[in-house]
Amino acid sequence: MPSFRLKTLSITLLFASSLTPWAVQAASPEPVKAEHGMVVTAQHLASDIGVAVLKSGGNAVDAAVAVGYALAVTYPTAGNIGGGGFMTIRFKDGKTTFLDFRERAPQAATKTMYLDAKGNVVDGLSTEGYLAVGVPGPVMGFEMARSRYGTKPLAELIAPAIALAKDGFVLEQGDIDSFEGETDRLAKDPAAAAIFLKDGKPFVAGEKLIQADLAASLSSIAEKGTDAFYKGAIADQIVKASAEKGGVLAKADFERYAVRELEPVKCNYRGYDIVSSPPPSSGGVIICEILNVLEGYPISYMGYGAADTVHVMIEAMRHAYVDRNTSLGDPDFVENPVAKLTDKAYAKDIRDKIDPFRAGVSATLIPKGFGESKETTHYSIIDDEGNAVAVTYTLNGSFGAGVVAPGTGILLNNEMDDFTAKPGVPNLYGLVQGEANAIAPGKTPLSSMSPTIISKDGKPFMVIGSPGGARIITITLEAILNVIDHGMNIQEAVDAPRVHHQWLPDKVFMEPYALSPDTRKLLSAMGHNVQIDESWTIWGQATGILVGGESLSDIEAGGGARYNGAVDSRIGAGAARGY
Ligand code: GLY
Repeated sequence: MPSFRLKTLSITLLFASSLTPWAVQAASPEPVKAEHGMVVTAQHLASDIGVAVLKSGGNAVDAAVAVGYALAVTYPTAGNIGGGGFMTIRFKDGKTTFLDFRERAPQAATKTMYLDAKGNVVDGLSTEGYLAVGVPGPVMGFEMARSRYGTKPLAELIAPAIALAKDGFVLEQGDIDSFEGETDRLAKDPAAAAIFLKDGKPFVAGEKLIQADLAASLSSIAEKGTDAFYKGAIADQIVKASAEKGGVLAKADFERYAVRELEPVKCNYRGYDIVSSPPPSSGGVIICEILNVLEGYPISYMGYGAADTVHVMIEAMRHAYVDRNTSLGDPDFVENPVAKLTDKAYAKDIRDKIDPFRAGVSATLIPKGFGESKETTHYSIIDDEGNAVAVTYTLNGSFGAGVVAPGTGILLNNEMDDFTAKPGVPNLYGLVQGEANAIAPGKTPLSSMSPTIISKDGKPFMVIGSPGGARIITITLEAILNVIDHGMNIQEAVDAPRVHHQWLPDKVFMEPYALSPDTRKLLSAMGHNVQIDESWTIWGQATGILVGGESLSDIEAGGGARYNGAVDSRIGAGAARGY
Protein backbone atom coordinates (compact mmCIF):
# COMPACT_ATOMS: atom_id res chain seq x y z
CA MET A 1 0.00 0.00 0.00
CA PRO A 2 2.60 2.68 0.92
CA SER A 3 4.54 2.08 -2.27
CA PHE A 4 1.29 2.33 -4.21
CA ARG A 5 0.57 5.69 -2.60
CA LEU A 6 4.04 6.91 -3.53
CA LYS A 7 3.58 5.76 -7.07
CA THR A 8 0.21 7.41 -7.52
CA LEU A 9 1.29 10.52 -5.64
CA SER A 10 4.10 11.02 -8.09
CA ILE A 11 1.63 10.70 -10.95
CA THR A 12 -0.55 13.26 -9.24
CA LEU A 13 2.32 15.72 -8.73
CA LEU A 14 3.51 15.30 -12.25
CA PHE A 15 0.20 15.91 -13.92
CA ALA A 16 -1.98 17.75 -11.45
CA SER A 17 -0.77 21.12 -12.63
CA SER A 18 -1.39 20.41 -16.28
CA LEU A 19 -4.49 18.24 -16.26
CA THR A 20 -7.86 18.56 -14.63
CA PRO A 21 -9.52 15.29 -13.68
CA TRP A 22 -12.52 16.23 -15.86
CA ALA A 23 -12.83 14.78 -19.29
CA VAL A 24 -13.48 17.10 -22.17
CA GLN A 25 -16.45 16.25 -24.41
CA ALA A 26 -15.92 12.76 -25.78
CA ALA A 27 -17.37 11.22 -28.94
CA SER A 28 -20.91 10.81 -27.61
CA PRO A 29 -24.11 12.57 -28.50
CA GLU A 30 -25.34 15.28 -26.10
CA PRO A 31 -27.53 14.08 -23.24
CA VAL A 32 -31.24 14.81 -23.63
CA LYS A 33 -32.28 17.76 -21.45
CA ALA A 34 -35.59 18.55 -19.78
CA GLU A 35 -36.96 20.53 -16.84
CA HIS A 36 -40.01 18.58 -15.61
CA GLY A 37 -39.49 14.88 -16.09
CA MET A 38 -37.29 12.31 -17.81
CA VAL A 39 -37.88 8.72 -18.94
CA VAL A 40 -35.02 6.66 -20.35
CA THR A 41 -35.79 3.17 -21.67
CA ALA A 42 -34.54 0.63 -24.18
CA GLN A 43 -37.47 1.26 -26.57
CA HIS A 44 -38.58 4.70 -27.75
CA LEU A 45 -42.33 3.99 -27.77
CA ALA A 46 -42.12 2.94 -24.11
CA SER A 47 -40.22 6.15 -23.29
CA ASP A 48 -42.97 8.17 -25.03
CA ILE A 49 -45.60 6.39 -22.97
CA GLY A 50 -43.74 7.12 -19.73
CA VAL A 51 -43.46 10.81 -20.54
CA ALA A 52 -47.16 10.97 -21.48
CA VAL A 53 -48.02 9.55 -18.03
CA LEU A 54 -45.85 12.19 -16.34
CA LYS A 55 -47.36 14.98 -18.46
CA SER A 56 -50.87 13.85 -17.57
CA GLY A 57 -50.11 14.26 -13.85
CA GLY A 58 -48.87 10.77 -12.98
CA ASN A 59 -45.81 10.39 -10.81
CA ALA A 60 -42.60 8.46 -11.54
CA VAL A 61 -44.09 5.23 -10.13
CA ASP A 62 -47.13 5.53 -12.42
CA ALA A 63 -44.77 6.08 -15.34
CA ALA A 64 -42.65 3.08 -14.29
CA VAL A 65 -45.72 0.82 -14.28
CA ALA A 66 -46.88 2.05 -17.70
CA VAL A 67 -43.35 1.65 -19.10
CA GLY A 68 -43.04 -1.85 -17.62
CA TYR A 69 -46.18 -2.98 -19.45
CA ALA A 70 -45.21 -1.10 -22.64
CA LEU A 71 -41.77 -2.74 -22.82
CA ALA A 72 -43.44 -6.14 -22.44
CA VAL A 73 -44.99 -5.36 -25.85
CA THR A 74 -42.35 -3.29 -27.65
CA TYR A 75 -39.16 -4.92 -26.32
CA PRO A 76 -39.99 -8.63 -26.13
CA THR A 77 -36.39 -9.75 -25.82
CA ALA A 78 -36.32 -8.51 -22.22
CA GLY A 79 -39.38 -6.38 -21.40
CA ASN A 80 -41.88 -8.77 -19.91
CA ILE A 81 -44.68 -9.88 -17.67
CA GLY A 82 -43.43 -13.48 -17.74
CA GLY A 83 -40.13 -12.81 -15.96
CA GLY A 84 -39.13 -10.85 -12.91
CA GLY A 85 -37.41 -7.74 -11.68
CA PHE A 86 -36.63 -5.10 -9.12
CA MET A 87 -37.76 -1.51 -8.52
CA THR A 88 -35.76 0.98 -6.47
CA ILE A 89 -37.68 4.12 -5.50
CA ARG A 90 -36.42 7.36 -3.98
CA PHE A 91 -39.31 9.59 -3.01
CA LYS A 92 -39.22 13.39 -3.10
CA ASP A 93 -38.80 13.47 0.71
CA GLY A 94 -35.64 11.35 0.51
CA LYS A 95 -37.22 8.11 1.73
CA THR A 96 -36.35 5.03 -0.25
CA THR A 97 -37.77 1.56 -0.82
CA PHE A 98 -37.24 -1.51 -2.95
CA LEU A 99 -39.69 -3.97 -4.51
CA ASP A 100 -38.56 -7.51 -5.29
CA PHE A 101 -40.78 -9.05 -7.97
CA ARG A 102 -38.24 -11.57 -9.18
CA GLU A 103 -39.14 -15.15 -10.06
CA ARG A 104 -39.56 -17.81 -7.38
CA ALA A 105 -38.66 -21.47 -7.93
CA PRO A 106 -41.70 -23.76 -8.31
CA GLN A 107 -42.53 -25.95 -5.29
CA ALA A 108 -41.54 -29.00 -7.30
CA ALA A 109 -38.03 -27.63 -7.93
CA THR A 110 -35.14 -29.57 -6.46
CA LYS A 111 -31.48 -28.86 -5.88
CA THR A 112 -30.43 -31.43 -8.45
CA MET A 113 -33.14 -30.88 -11.07
CA TYR A 114 -30.66 -29.95 -13.80
CA LEU A 115 -28.26 -32.86 -13.19
CA ASP A 116 -28.15 -36.26 -14.88
CA ALA A 117 -27.84 -39.60 -13.10
CA LYS A 118 -24.08 -39.12 -12.87
CA GLY A 119 -24.46 -35.72 -11.26
CA ASN A 120 -23.46 -33.74 -14.35
CA VAL A 121 -25.32 -30.61 -15.46
CA VAL A 122 -27.52 -31.40 -18.47
CA ASP A 123 -26.88 -28.76 -21.11
CA GLY A 124 -29.91 -26.56 -21.87
CA LEU A 125 -32.19 -27.89 -19.14
CA SER A 126 -32.00 -24.70 -17.07
CA THR A 127 -32.11 -22.38 -20.09
CA GLU A 128 -34.52 -23.86 -22.69
CA GLY A 129 -38.20 -24.72 -22.32
CA TYR A 130 -40.59 -24.97 -19.39
CA LEU A 131 -38.27 -26.61 -16.86
CA ALA A 132 -36.21 -23.39 -16.93
CA VAL A 133 -39.17 -21.20 -15.93
CA GLY A 134 -39.51 -19.53 -12.53
CA VAL A 135 -42.84 -18.19 -11.28
CA PRO A 136 -43.14 -14.70 -12.83
CA GLY A 137 -43.46 -11.53 -10.72
CA PRO A 138 -43.92 -8.31 -12.77
CA VAL A 139 -47.75 -8.18 -12.75
CA MET A 140 -47.79 -8.44 -8.96
CA GLY A 141 -44.76 -6.14 -8.62
CA PHE A 142 -46.16 -3.38 -10.82
CA GLU A 143 -49.47 -3.58 -8.98
CA MET A 144 -47.84 -3.28 -5.56
CA ALA A 145 -45.87 -0.26 -6.80
CA ARG A 146 -48.98 1.34 -8.30
CA SER A 147 -51.33 0.66 -5.41
CA ARG A 148 -48.87 1.77 -2.73
CA TYR A 149 -47.03 4.62 -4.41
CA GLY A 150 -48.76 5.49 -7.68
CA THR A 151 -51.71 7.80 -8.27
CA LYS A 152 -53.41 6.44 -11.39
CA PRO A 153 -55.76 3.50 -12.04
CA LEU A 154 -54.21 0.32 -13.47
CA ALA A 155 -56.48 0.37 -16.52
CA GLU A 156 -55.18 3.82 -17.50
CA LEU A 157 -51.53 2.80 -17.11
CA ILE A 158 -51.88 -0.45 -19.03
CA ALA A 159 -54.04 0.99 -21.86
CA PRO A 160 -51.15 2.19 -24.07
CA ALA A 161 -49.53 -1.27 -23.90
CA ILE A 162 -52.82 -2.94 -24.87
CA ALA A 163 -53.16 -0.61 -27.86
CA LEU A 164 -49.59 -1.32 -29.01
CA ALA A 165 -50.14 -5.08 -28.72
CA LYS A 166 -53.56 -5.03 -30.40
CA ASP A 167 -52.88 -2.57 -33.23
CA GLY A 168 -49.22 -3.44 -33.54
CA PHE A 169 -46.27 -1.14 -34.02
CA VAL A 170 -43.87 -0.66 -36.88
CA LEU A 171 -40.52 -2.30 -36.23
CA GLU A 172 -37.49 -0.10 -36.79
CA GLN A 173 -33.98 -1.37 -37.41
CA GLY A 174 -33.15 -1.02 -33.70
CA ASP A 175 -36.07 -3.31 -32.85
CA ILE A 176 -35.03 -5.82 -35.50
CA ASP A 177 -31.50 -5.85 -34.07
CA SER A 178 -32.86 -6.98 -30.70
CA PHE A 179 -34.31 -10.12 -32.38
CA GLU A 180 -30.93 -10.98 -33.94
CA GLY A 181 -29.77 -14.56 -33.55
CA GLU A 182 -32.97 -15.81 -31.95
CA THR A 183 -34.77 -17.27 -35.01
CA ASP A 184 -33.80 -20.89 -34.41
CA ARG A 185 -34.79 -20.82 -30.74
CA LEU A 186 -38.12 -19.09 -31.39
CA ALA A 187 -38.87 -21.47 -34.27
CA LYS A 188 -38.80 -24.41 -31.87
CA ASP A 189 -41.87 -23.17 -29.97
CA PRO A 190 -44.93 -22.91 -32.27
CA ALA A 191 -46.66 -20.28 -30.08
CA ALA A 192 -43.53 -18.10 -29.95
CA ALA A 193 -42.82 -18.60 -33.65
CA ALA A 194 -46.37 -17.60 -34.58
CA ILE A 195 -45.85 -14.22 -32.91
CA PHE A 196 -42.19 -13.33 -33.24
CA LEU A 197 -41.39 -14.78 -36.67
CA LYS A 198 -43.07 -14.11 -39.99
CA ASP A 199 -43.61 -17.34 -41.92
CA GLY A 200 -40.71 -18.79 -39.93
CA LYS A 201 -38.36 -15.94 -40.87
CA PRO A 202 -37.23 -12.87 -38.90
CA PHE A 203 -39.25 -9.65 -39.27
CA VAL A 204 -37.60 -6.84 -41.25
CA ALA A 205 -37.68 -3.09 -40.58
CA GLY A 206 -40.95 -1.49 -41.63
CA GLU A 207 -43.09 -4.52 -40.82
CA LYS A 208 -45.67 -4.45 -38.03
CA LEU A 209 -45.54 -6.64 -34.91
CA ILE A 210 -49.10 -7.41 -33.77
CA GLN A 211 -49.59 -9.43 -30.54
CA ALA A 212 -53.33 -10.23 -30.26
CA ASP A 213 -53.00 -12.84 -27.50
CA LEU A 214 -50.83 -10.56 -25.42
CA ALA A 215 -53.38 -7.75 -25.90
CA ALA A 216 -56.07 -10.08 -24.56
CA SER A 217 -53.94 -11.08 -21.55
CA LEU A 218 -53.17 -7.43 -20.78
CA SER A 219 -56.85 -6.50 -21.15
CA SER A 220 -57.83 -9.17 -18.67
CA ILE A 221 -55.19 -7.87 -16.20
CA ALA A 222 -56.52 -4.32 -16.70
CA GLU A 223 -60.03 -5.57 -15.96
CA LYS A 224 -59.48 -8.11 -13.17
CA GLY A 225 -56.13 -7.03 -11.69
CA THR A 226 -53.43 -9.45 -10.53
CA ASP A 227 -55.94 -12.30 -10.06
CA ALA A 228 -56.23 -12.56 -13.83
CA PHE A 229 -52.58 -13.56 -13.94
CA TYR A 230 -52.07 -15.48 -10.70
CA LYS A 231 -55.45 -17.08 -10.04
CA GLY A 232 -57.27 -17.05 -13.35
CA ALA A 233 -57.02 -18.17 -16.94
CA ILE A 234 -53.46 -16.94 -17.56
CA ALA A 235 -52.01 -19.10 -14.78
CA ASP A 236 -54.12 -22.03 -16.02
CA GLN A 237 -52.78 -21.67 -19.56
CA ILE A 238 -49.14 -21.44 -18.41
CA VAL A 239 -49.48 -24.42 -16.05
CA LYS A 240 -51.17 -26.51 -18.78
CA ALA A 241 -48.42 -25.75 -21.31
CA SER A 242 -45.75 -26.43 -18.68
CA ALA A 243 -47.24 -29.82 -17.79
CA GLU A 244 -47.49 -30.79 -21.47
CA LYS A 245 -43.88 -29.80 -22.21
CA GLY A 246 -41.82 -31.11 -19.33
CA GLY A 247 -42.15 -28.26 -16.83
CA VAL A 248 -43.07 -28.46 -13.14
CA LEU A 249 -45.11 -25.24 -12.67
CA ALA A 250 -48.31 -25.70 -10.64
CA LYS A 251 -51.32 -23.44 -10.11
CA ALA A 252 -50.38 -23.25 -6.40
CA ASP A 253 -47.03 -21.71 -7.39
CA PHE A 254 -48.91 -18.81 -8.96
CA GLU A 255 -51.44 -18.53 -6.11
CA ARG A 256 -48.71 -18.27 -3.48
CA TYR A 257 -46.54 -15.74 -5.38
CA ALA A 258 -45.84 -12.65 -3.26
CA VAL A 259 -43.82 -9.47 -3.85
CA ARG A 260 -41.34 -8.50 -1.15
CA GLU A 261 -40.88 -4.87 -0.13
CA LEU A 262 -37.33 -4.67 1.22
CA GLU A 263 -34.88 -2.14 2.59
CA PRO A 264 -32.51 -1.15 -0.19
CA VAL A 265 -28.75 -1.49 0.32
CA LYS A 266 -27.12 1.83 1.11
CA CYS A 267 -23.56 3.11 1.13
CA ASN A 268 -21.68 6.34 0.69
CA TYR A 269 -19.01 6.90 -1.97
CA ARG A 270 -16.99 10.10 -1.78
CA GLY A 271 -19.98 11.96 -0.25
CA TYR A 272 -22.59 10.48 -2.61
CA ASP A 273 -25.37 8.36 -1.10
CA ILE A 274 -25.91 5.19 -3.09
CA VAL A 275 -29.22 3.28 -2.82
CA SER A 276 -29.42 0.00 -4.68
CA SER A 277 -30.70 -3.57 -4.73
CA PRO A 278 -30.44 -5.85 -1.65
CA PRO A 279 -30.50 -9.67 -1.75
CA PRO A 280 -31.96 -11.56 -3.59
CA SER A 281 -29.85 -9.31 -5.78
CA SER A 282 -26.13 -9.24 -5.30
CA GLY A 283 -26.09 -5.95 -7.24
CA GLY A 284 -26.26 -3.26 -4.56
CA VAL A 285 -24.08 -5.15 -2.09
CA ILE A 286 -21.32 -5.80 -4.60
CA ILE A 287 -21.43 -2.28 -6.10
CA CYS A 288 -21.04 -0.89 -2.57
CA GLU A 289 -18.25 -3.34 -1.75
CA ILE A 290 -16.30 -2.37 -4.88
CA LEU A 291 -16.91 1.37 -4.37
CA ASN A 292 -15.72 1.10 -0.76
CA VAL A 293 -12.49 -0.52 -1.93
CA LEU A 294 -11.98 2.04 -4.71
CA GLU A 295 -12.62 4.98 -2.38
CA GLY A 296 -9.14 4.39 -0.94
CA TYR A 297 -7.46 5.10 -4.28
CA PRO A 298 -7.13 8.43 -6.14
CA ILE A 299 -9.12 7.14 -9.10
CA SER A 300 -9.78 10.60 -10.50
CA TYR A 301 -6.09 11.52 -10.65
CA MET A 302 -4.98 8.14 -11.88
CA GLY A 303 -7.37 8.68 -14.76
CA TYR A 304 -9.91 6.81 -16.88
CA GLY A 305 -8.42 3.82 -18.64
CA ALA A 306 -5.00 4.16 -16.94
CA ALA A 307 -3.35 0.85 -16.08
CA ASP A 308 -3.24 1.75 -12.37
CA THR A 309 -6.97 2.57 -12.37
CA VAL A 310 -7.93 -0.58 -14.25
CA HIS A 311 -5.67 -2.68 -12.00
CA VAL A 312 -7.38 -1.58 -8.76
CA MET A 313 -10.84 -1.84 -10.37
CA ILE A 314 -10.10 -5.40 -11.46
CA GLU A 315 -8.72 -6.39 -8.07
CA ALA A 316 -11.72 -4.87 -6.26
CA MET A 317 -14.04 -6.75 -8.66
CA ARG A 318 -12.10 -10.00 -8.16
CA HIS A 319 -12.49 -9.88 -4.37
CA ALA A 320 -16.11 -8.70 -4.44
CA TYR A 321 -17.26 -11.39 -6.93
CA VAL A 322 -15.82 -14.09 -4.66
CA ASP A 323 -18.21 -12.79 -2.03
CA ARG A 324 -21.04 -12.52 -4.54
CA ASN A 325 -20.66 -16.02 -5.85
CA THR A 326 -20.10 -17.79 -2.57
CA SER A 327 -22.00 -16.03 0.19
CA LEU A 328 -25.18 -14.40 -1.19
CA GLY A 329 -28.64 -15.82 -1.86
CA ASP A 330 -32.35 -15.40 -1.21
CA PRO A 331 -32.68 -13.67 2.21
CA ASP A 332 -35.58 -15.97 3.17
CA PHE A 333 -33.25 -18.95 2.84
CA VAL A 334 -29.70 -17.83 3.71
CA GLU A 335 -28.08 -15.38 6.07
CA ASN A 336 -26.53 -12.70 3.84
CA PRO A 337 -23.46 -10.95 5.29
CA VAL A 338 -24.60 -7.55 3.90
CA ALA A 339 -23.33 -5.49 6.83
CA LYS A 340 -19.88 -7.06 6.62
CA LEU A 341 -19.57 -6.82 2.83
CA THR A 342 -20.60 -3.14 2.79
CA ASP A 343 -18.40 -2.18 5.74
CA LYS A 344 -15.56 0.31 5.03
CA ALA A 345 -13.27 -1.65 7.36
CA TYR A 346 -13.82 -4.79 5.27
CA ALA A 347 -12.96 -2.73 2.17
CA LYS A 348 -9.70 -1.70 3.84
CA ASP A 349 -8.91 -5.36 4.53
CA ILE A 350 -9.37 -6.01 0.80
CA ARG A 351 -7.17 -3.04 -0.14
CA ASP A 352 -4.47 -4.37 2.14
CA LYS A 353 -4.48 -7.60 0.15
CA ILE A 354 -4.18 -5.85 -3.23
CA ASP A 355 -0.61 -5.75 -4.51
CA PRO A 356 -0.16 -2.42 -6.32
CA PHE A 357 2.10 -3.99 -8.89
CA ARG A 358 0.81 -7.53 -9.35
CA ALA A 359 -2.48 -9.09 -10.42
CA GLY A 360 -4.14 -11.28 -7.82
CA VAL A 361 -4.77 -14.96 -8.52
CA SER A 362 -8.43 -15.97 -8.31
CA ALA A 363 -7.63 -19.60 -7.51
CA THR A 364 -6.03 -18.51 -4.24
CA LEU A 365 -9.31 -16.84 -3.19
CA ILE A 366 -11.51 -19.93 -3.39
CA PRO A 367 -13.12 -20.20 0.07
CA LYS A 368 -12.78 -23.43 2.04
CA GLY A 369 -15.63 -25.85 1.30
CA PHE A 370 -16.65 -24.16 -1.94
CA GLY A 371 -17.70 -27.10 -4.02
CA GLU A 372 -25.06 -15.64 -12.55
CA SER A 373 -27.17 -7.53 -22.58
CA LYS A 374 -29.99 -7.56 -24.14
CA GLU A 375 -31.24 -10.31 -21.90
CA THR A 376 -32.44 -7.89 -19.27
CA THR A 377 -33.57 -4.27 -19.49
CA HIS A 378 -33.25 -1.25 -17.25
CA TYR A 379 -35.18 2.01 -17.25
CA SER A 380 -34.70 5.23 -15.30
CA ILE A 381 -37.44 7.76 -14.51
CA ILE A 382 -37.70 11.03 -12.57
CA ASP A 383 -40.75 13.27 -12.23
CA ASP A 384 -41.35 16.99 -11.67
CA GLU A 385 -41.50 16.56 -7.90
CA GLY A 386 -38.17 14.74 -7.79
CA ASN A 387 -39.48 11.19 -7.22
CA ALA A 388 -37.01 8.84 -8.88
CA VAL A 389 -37.56 5.22 -9.97
CA ALA A 390 -35.02 2.72 -11.25
CA VAL A 391 -36.36 -0.58 -12.65
CA THR A 392 -34.39 -3.53 -13.94
CA TYR A 393 -36.45 -6.53 -15.10
CA THR A 394 -35.68 -9.55 -17.17
CA LEU A 395 -36.53 -12.83 -18.84
CA ASN A 396 -32.89 -13.79 -18.08
CA GLY A 397 -31.69 -14.99 -21.51
CA SER A 398 -32.84 -13.18 -24.64
CA PHE A 399 -36.53 -14.13 -25.09
CA GLY A 400 -36.18 -16.10 -21.84
CA ALA A 401 -36.81 -19.81 -22.17
CA GLY A 402 -37.99 -19.19 -25.76
CA VAL A 403 -41.51 -20.35 -24.98
CA VAL A 404 -44.96 -18.73 -25.00
CA ALA A 405 -47.86 -20.51 -23.32
CA PRO A 406 -50.42 -20.95 -26.15
CA GLY A 407 -53.18 -18.35 -25.98
CA THR A 408 -51.37 -15.98 -23.59
CA GLY A 409 -48.86 -14.22 -25.86
CA ILE A 410 -46.58 -14.12 -22.79
CA LEU A 411 -42.91 -15.04 -23.16
CA LEU A 412 -41.63 -17.01 -20.19
CA ASN A 413 -38.31 -16.61 -18.41
CA ASN A 414 -35.39 -18.99 -17.97
CA GLU A 415 -34.44 -17.46 -14.62
CA MET A 416 -33.90 -20.87 -13.00
CA ASP A 417 -30.47 -20.76 -14.68
CA ASP A 418 -29.45 -18.01 -12.23
CA PHE A 419 -29.41 -20.62 -9.47
CA THR A 420 -26.38 -22.81 -8.82
CA ALA A 421 -27.20 -25.90 -10.90
CA LYS A 422 -24.07 -27.48 -9.43
CA PRO A 423 -21.42 -25.77 -7.31
CA GLY A 424 -18.37 -24.95 -9.40
CA VAL A 425 -20.10 -25.29 -12.80
CA PRO A 426 -20.54 -22.00 -14.69
CA ASN A 427 -24.03 -20.79 -15.66
CA LEU A 428 -25.22 -18.84 -18.76
CA TYR A 429 -23.08 -15.87 -17.66
CA GLY A 430 -20.04 -17.94 -16.69
CA LEU A 431 -20.70 -17.38 -13.00
CA VAL A 432 -19.31 -20.09 -10.76
CA GLN A 433 -21.50 -20.11 -7.68
CA GLY A 434 -22.00 -21.96 -4.41
CA GLU A 435 -24.47 -23.45 -1.95
CA ALA A 436 -25.97 -20.14 -0.78
CA ASN A 437 -27.63 -19.96 -4.21
CA ALA A 438 -28.65 -23.63 -4.44
CA ILE A 439 -32.13 -24.42 -5.83
CA ALA A 440 -34.99 -24.86 -3.32
CA PRO A 441 -38.78 -24.72 -3.64
CA GLY A 442 -40.10 -21.16 -3.44
CA LYS A 443 -36.57 -19.74 -3.43
CA THR A 444 -35.45 -16.82 -5.62
CA PRO A 445 -32.25 -17.17 -7.66
CA LEU A 446 -29.47 -14.74 -6.89
CA SER A 447 -29.51 -11.78 -9.27
CA SER A 448 -27.00 -9.17 -10.40
CA MET A 449 -29.66 -6.61 -11.30
CA SER A 450 -28.73 -3.23 -9.83
CA PRO A 451 -31.38 -0.51 -10.18
CA THR A 452 -29.53 2.33 -8.42
CA ILE A 453 -30.39 5.85 -7.28
CA ILE A 454 -27.71 8.25 -6.01
CA SER A 455 -28.28 11.41 -4.02
CA LYS A 456 -25.99 14.19 -2.82
CA ASP A 457 -26.74 16.52 0.07
CA GLY A 458 -30.26 15.13 0.32
CA LYS A 459 -31.10 15.75 -3.35
CA PRO A 460 -31.41 13.25 -6.20
CA PHE A 461 -28.22 13.12 -8.27
CA MET A 462 -28.25 10.10 -10.57
CA VAL A 463 -30.54 7.23 -11.63
CA ILE A 464 -28.69 4.37 -13.25
CA GLY A 465 -28.78 0.66 -14.14
CA SER A 466 -28.20 -1.76 -16.98
CA PRO A 467 -28.79 -5.24 -18.35
CA GLY A 468 -25.77 -7.47 -18.87
CA GLY A 469 -26.08 -10.65 -16.80
CA ALA A 470 -23.15 -11.01 -14.42
CA ARG A 471 -21.76 -7.72 -15.84
CA ILE A 472 -24.73 -5.62 -14.67
CA ILE A 473 -22.81 -4.84 -11.50
CA THR A 474 -19.62 -3.65 -13.17
CA ILE A 475 -21.51 -1.79 -15.94
CA THR A 476 -23.50 0.16 -13.34
CA LEU A 477 -20.37 0.65 -11.23
CA GLU A 478 -18.36 2.01 -14.16
CA ALA A 479 -21.10 4.50 -15.11
CA ILE A 480 -20.96 5.79 -11.52
CA LEU A 481 -17.15 6.04 -11.54
CA ASN A 482 -17.26 7.73 -14.95
CA VAL A 483 -19.50 10.51 -13.60
CA ILE A 484 -18.09 10.93 -10.10
CA ASP A 485 -14.39 10.25 -10.62
CA HIS A 486 -13.80 10.92 -14.30
CA GLY A 487 -16.13 13.90 -14.79
CA MET A 488 -17.88 12.44 -17.81
CA ASN A 489 -21.32 13.69 -18.75
CA ILE A 490 -24.09 11.14 -18.33
CA GLN A 491 -24.07 10.17 -22.02
CA GLU A 492 -20.31 9.70 -22.06
CA ALA A 493 -20.55 7.76 -18.82
CA VAL A 494 -22.95 5.14 -20.21
CA ASP A 495 -21.21 4.98 -23.62
CA ALA A 496 -17.61 4.60 -22.43
CA PRO A 497 -16.06 1.20 -23.22
CA ARG A 498 -16.01 -1.17 -20.30
CA VAL A 499 -13.87 -3.75 -18.51
CA HIS A 500 -15.08 -6.63 -16.36
CA HIS A 501 -13.75 -9.27 -13.98
CA GLN A 502 -15.91 -11.72 -12.03
CA TRP A 503 -13.33 -13.74 -10.07
CA LEU A 504 -13.79 -16.87 -12.21
CA PRO A 505 -12.82 -17.25 -14.96
CA ASP A 506 -9.63 -15.43 -13.94
CA LYS A 507 -9.69 -13.10 -16.97
CA VAL A 508 -10.00 -9.36 -17.51
CA PHE A 509 -12.66 -8.95 -20.18
CA MET A 510 -12.40 -5.70 -22.14
CA GLU A 511 -14.84 -4.25 -24.65
CA PRO A 512 -13.15 -3.53 -27.99
CA TYR A 513 -11.12 -0.26 -27.70
CA ALA A 514 -11.61 -0.04 -23.91
CA LEU A 515 -7.86 -0.14 -23.33
CA SER A 516 -4.97 1.08 -25.47
CA PRO A 517 -2.29 -1.42 -26.53
CA ASP A 518 0.09 0.35 -24.12
CA THR A 519 -2.29 -0.10 -21.20
CA ARG A 520 -2.84 -3.72 -22.09
CA LYS A 521 0.91 -4.28 -22.07
CA LEU A 522 1.21 -2.70 -18.62
CA LEU A 523 -1.64 -4.83 -17.30
CA SER A 524 -0.18 -8.00 -18.83
CA ALA A 525 3.17 -7.21 -17.22
CA MET A 526 1.33 -7.08 -13.87
CA GLY A 527 0.03 -10.59 -14.54
CA HIS A 528 -3.47 -9.78 -15.81
CA ASN A 529 -4.92 -12.03 -18.48
CA VAL A 530 -6.66 -9.36 -20.63
CA GLN A 531 -9.03 -10.55 -23.34
CA ILE A 532 -11.13 -8.58 -25.83
CA ASP A 533 -14.76 -9.69 -25.68
CA GLU A 534 -16.49 -8.79 -28.96
CA SER A 535 -19.88 -10.27 -28.08
CA TRP A 536 -21.48 -6.82 -27.93
CA THR A 537 -24.77 -7.86 -26.33
CA ILE A 538 -23.07 -8.93 -23.13
CA TRP A 539 -21.73 -5.41 -22.47
CA GLY A 540 -25.20 -4.19 -21.46
CA GLN A 541 -27.20 -1.13 -22.35
CA ALA A 542 -27.24 1.36 -19.49
CA THR A 543 -29.90 4.04 -19.13
CA GLY A 544 -29.15 6.99 -16.86
CA ILE A 545 -30.34 10.36 -15.63
CA LEU A 546 -28.17 13.07 -14.04
CA VAL A 547 -29.85 15.84 -12.07
CA GLY A 548 -28.79 19.51 -12.14
CA GLY A 549 -26.44 19.33 -15.10
CA GLU A 550 -25.07 16.94 -17.70
CA SER A 551 -21.84 16.36 -15.74
CA LEU A 552 -20.32 17.22 -12.38
CA SER A 553 -18.59 20.29 -13.80
CA ASP A 554 -21.89 21.43 -15.38
CA ILE A 555 -23.63 20.98 -12.03
CA GLU A 556 -20.88 22.81 -10.18
CA ALA A 557 -20.96 25.70 -12.68
CA GLY A 558 -24.72 26.06 -12.02
CA GLY A 559 -27.39 26.71 -14.61
CA GLY A 560 -27.30 23.20 -16.12
CA ALA A 561 -30.49 21.54 -17.28
CA ARG A 562 -32.50 20.07 -14.42
CA TYR A 563 -32.76 16.58 -15.93
CA ASN A 564 -30.18 15.08 -18.27
CA GLY A 565 -31.03 11.71 -19.78
CA ALA A 566 -28.85 9.26 -21.65
CA VAL A 567 -29.68 6.00 -23.34
CA ASP A 568 -26.65 3.85 -24.02
CA SER A 569 -25.51 4.21 -27.64
CA ARG A 570 -25.33 0.41 -27.69
CA ILE A 571 -29.18 0.34 -27.78
CA GLY A 572 -30.67 0.68 -31.23
CA ALA A 573 -34.29 1.28 -30.29
CA GLY A 574 -34.00 3.18 -27.00
CA ALA A 575 -34.66 6.81 -26.20
CA ALA A 576 -34.30 9.36 -23.45
CA ARG A 577 -37.44 11.50 -23.51
CA GLY A 578 -38.20 14.48 -21.31
CA TYR A 579 -40.55 17.42 -21.08
N1 GLY B 1 -30.85 -12.76 -14.97
C1 GLY B 1 -29.85 -11.79 -14.72
C2 GLY B 1 -29.83 -11.33 -13.29
O1 GLY B 1 -30.86 -11.31 -12.64
O2 GLY B 1 -28.79 -11.03 -12.79
